Amino acid sequence: MADHASRQGHRYDSPEILAYLNELHAGHDLALASAFAAPELHGLPAIQVGMSEGKLLALLLRLSGAKKVVEFGTLAGYSAIRMAQALPVDGRLWTLELEARHAAVARGNIAAAGLSKRVEVLVGPALGLLPTLEPEGPFDAVFLDADKGRYDLYGHWAAINVRQGGLLLVDNAYYFGQLLDQSPDAVAVRRCHEEAAQAFDTVCIPTPDGLLLGIKK
Ligand code: SAH
Ligand code: DHB
Ligand code: MG
Repeated sequence: MADHASRQGHRYDSPEILAYLNELHAGHDLALASAFAAPELHGLPAIQVGMSEGKLLALLLRLSGAKKVVEFGTLAGYSAIRMAQALPVDGRLWTLELEARHAAVARGNIAAAGLSKRVEVLVGPALGLLPTLEPEGPFDAVFLDADKGRYDLYGHWAAINVRQGGLLLVDNAYYFGQLLDQSPDAVAVRRCHEEAAQAFDTVCIPTPDGLLLGIKK
């Protein structure tokens, strides 16, 4: 039956079904609602993870008992707040953001969520921030969601800096449907997949744009 669906490429979801399930299983408190609405409100790109993807990140962190997490790509702090809410009170999330304007909006949302003690927003190109972050490691989980053209380098960093049994999570794992293209960015995302498959036990979860999950070997 399920074979049928996947073999023939059928999908059984619909916008109505997904909206119902998002509200039921992945609804927002006030802080999440503000952070989710923030990009549009502040003229930032509205490219935050979906409601169910954000909730999935949170549940995976809880399942794995994560305490120290690194996020690449903060935007307005929506996924950061989802993940930080899933950490114990002494947990830490470091989230890396290139754009000072995005980081400022995120810090406001994180403060309103009461999570400023648990979350640190670091501003600059992620690769430049990593050397100062490394002494805090090894980390329990890394979530990649920044510039896709450097996913190969970020995935390599995660393979080194995630503890055994820790998680790698990667948004846009289908690279907007262009994963098999020859563009440099598509190649970088594929390299990330290939390196992840070596260093982690992996599966690509079929969210709208794919979410790679790995457990460090
Ligand atoms: N994780 C967020 C969405 C991130 S969108 C959420 O789900 O709520 C991607 C973000 O990565 C953007 O804010 C963009 O400014 C940032 N970004 C792009 N290139 C970057 C780089 N080199 N280093 C750090 N952040 C980068
Ligand atoms: C874009 C980035 C993302 O991380 C995403 O989930 C969707 C879109 C983008 O850069 O357009
Ligand atoms: Mg994304």
